[in-house]
Amino acid sequence: MTSTTISEGQYNLFTDKTAVITGGTRGIGRAVSLKLARQGAKVLALYGRDSKSAGELDSIAKQEGLKIVCIKGDLCNDEKFSLVVEAIKAQASRIDFLVHCAASGVHRDAMDLTLKHLRWTFEINVFAIHHLLQSLVEMMPSGARVIGITSSGGTRVIPYYAAVGSSKGALEALFRHYAYELAPKGIAVNLVCPGLVLTDAVDAFPDRDARVEKAKQATPSGELVIPEDVAEMISFLCEPRSGQVIGQTIVIDGGKTLLS
Ligand SMILES: NC(=O)c1ccc[n+]([C@@H]2O[C@H](COP(=O)([O-])OP(=O)(O)OC[C@H]3O[C@@H](n4cnc5c(N)ncnc54)[C@H](OP(=O)(O)O)[C@@H]3O)[C@@H](O)[C@H]2O)c1
Repeated sequence: MTSTTISEGQYNLFTDKTAVITGGTRGIGRAVSLKLARQGAKVLALYGRDSKSAGELDSIAKQEGLKIVCIKGDLCNDEKFSLVVEAIKAQASRIDFLVHCAASGVHRDAMDLTLKHLRWTFEINVFAIHHLLQSLVEMMPSGARVIGITSSGGTRVIPYYAAVGSSKGALEALFRHYAYELAPKGIAVNLVCPGLVLTDAVDAFPDRDARVEKAKQATPSGELVIPEDVAEMISFLCEPRSGQVIGQTIVIDGGKTLLS
C-alpha cells in the first residue's frame, strides 16, 4: 500500500504526543493504535472485555518497542468508566488525540428493536465518547484532535442496521457541535467514514457473506477497505498540517458511495 510506504518515513512525527483510542485493541482501533504508536505517540488503548486481543497488542508493542498501554474497562458502566479515566490520568497529564473506535450494536429491523437494544447501542457508540470527552477535554491542548468513526448507515438505510445507523447519525450531529465549540480552543474534531472493513463486527451481520460479496462488487477500486487504510487517514487528521480540517466526515470506501 503506497500510503504505508510514505508514512514509514514519519516515524518520529508524534513523539511527544499522547493518544487515547477507545476500542483500541481490536479491528480498526487496533490499526489506529499501532499506526500512531509507530509514529512515536504514547497510546492508551482502551478496551472492554477482550483481554486476549489486548495481550496480543501488548506483545507487539513490546517486540517493536512501542509505547502502548492497554486499559480495560466497560465505558458504559459508570464505576468502570471512572476507573478508566483514573488510569488515563495516571498515564498522562495531556491528551493530544482522542479517537473513538469502540462500538457495538444490535442488528435487527427497526420494528424489532426494543428500547433496551437502542440504549445498548447508543451507550457505547454515542454516550461513551461524550462522557469521555467531557472528562478529558481539560487535558487537551490547542492542536489536539478528536476523531470519531461513523458509517454510511449514519445517513442511509442498511438492512438490520437501524440501531447502529441511528447511533451513527446521532454521533455525526454531536461531532458537528463538538467541532464548532472546540475549534476556538484549537481542537479539531472530525469523523472518518469507512466502507465495509472485514473485522469481527462484520461477522455479527445475519447476512454477512452476501453483504461482503455485494460490497466487493460495488467498490470501484476493486478492494475492500482495510483497517490500515482508516488508520492512515486518522494519522493524517492528527498531523499539524490538517488543523484546518474541522467538522468534516472523510469517506474512505474505495469509491463505493459514488454509485447510486
Ligand atoms: N467494520 C466495518 O465495516 C465498519 C464500517 C464503518 C464503520 N465502522 C466503525 O468503526 C469502528 C470500529 O469498528 P470495528 O469493526 O473495528 O469494531 P470491532 O472490531 O467490533 O471492535 C469494537 C471495539 O469496541 C470495544 N467496545 C465495545 N463495547 C465496549 C464497551 N462497552 N466498553 C469499552 N469498549 C467497548 C471492543 O472492546 P472488546 O474487544 O474488549 O470488547 C472493541 O475493541 C466502529 O465505530 C464501527 O462502527 C466499522
